Amino acid sequence: MNRQEIDALVKQMNVDTATGPVDERVQQVVVRLLGDLFQAIEDLDISQSELWKGLEYFTDAGQANELGLLAAGLGLEHYLDLRADEADAKAGITGGTPRTIEGPLYVAGAPETVSFARMDDGSEEGKIPTLIIEGTVTDTDGNRVEGAKVEIWHANSLGNYSFFDKSQSDFNLRRSIITAADGQYTALTTMPVGYGCPPEGTTQFVLDKLGRHGNRPSHVHYFVSAPGYRKLTTQFNIEGDQYLWDDFAFATREGLVATAADVTDEAEIAKRGLKGPFKHIQFDIELVKEKQDAPSTEVDRRRASA
Ligand SMILES: [Fe+2]
Repeated sequence: MNRQEIDALVKQMNVDTATGPVDERVQQVVVRLLGDLFQAIEDLDISQSELWKGLEYFTDAGQANELGLLAAGLGLEHYLDLRADEADAKAGITGGTPRTIEGPLYVAGAPETVSFARMDDGSEEGKIPTLIIEGTVTDTDGNRVEGAKVEIWHANSLGNYSFFDKSQSDFNLRRSIITAADGQYTALTTMPVGYGCPPEGTTQFVLDKLGRHGNRPSHVHYFVSAPGYRKLTTQFNIEGDQYLWDDFAFATREGLVATAADVTDEAEIAKRGLKGPFKHIQFDIELVKEKQDAPSTEVDRRRASA
């Protein structure tokens, strides 16, 4: 079949058959995607068995709750970031900390404190370096932003996230810090470790077929929001990790690479109330003022909450 015949067939089966109210947007998207799929079946001569394998794959990936991971791994989520960057540029929006992917592991409802939070539950003390993350939230003119909500989440020493890893305590390594008038936030936590897709999982299954690895560098996720500003979804990835620029989810971007400095100075250790050397990361955040008619940076997707 040629495209004209395909489009006519799709319309005949899915548009002309409507007998009830139609969601025009859903219809538009379904018709387009079906037409493109039929065309791909024609072009690539996809067999019936291959098609059913594909559908079975999505069933398995959905049951394993890995579709979010798949979207990251195949670059779909990064592509959406690039599109959002283009839309910002078109709307005349410049500056601000770069965005990067959210990933599938956010959990809403983390404990909230002002200016400072200890993020870890102490269960890995002595097993992994202590990390202090500090930064200032400003606008694009350098003015400090009061009342910004800095939501931070990261993995433990095994590369696992609380909530999804039931061996961790509730909200371990997940906090919301509200900035005071100085715009500062400080998180006392542990060094995150990079992680890979579950080796037996559905995402890794496809990556294997593509000859790709499924590893991420060590990183820390952020949502930063404040009244009158555009919500920022981002993360920093940590210098020195072998996957820094070889991230299977394509989240590392210029401006989002952080260096973990070793702090051994006794006075500094004492000032922080710590017992020994620690690592320190400075990650300042620049928020962009909300602009009318600019595309929203809020993404409506299903997220876990605890
Ligand atoms: Fe992550």
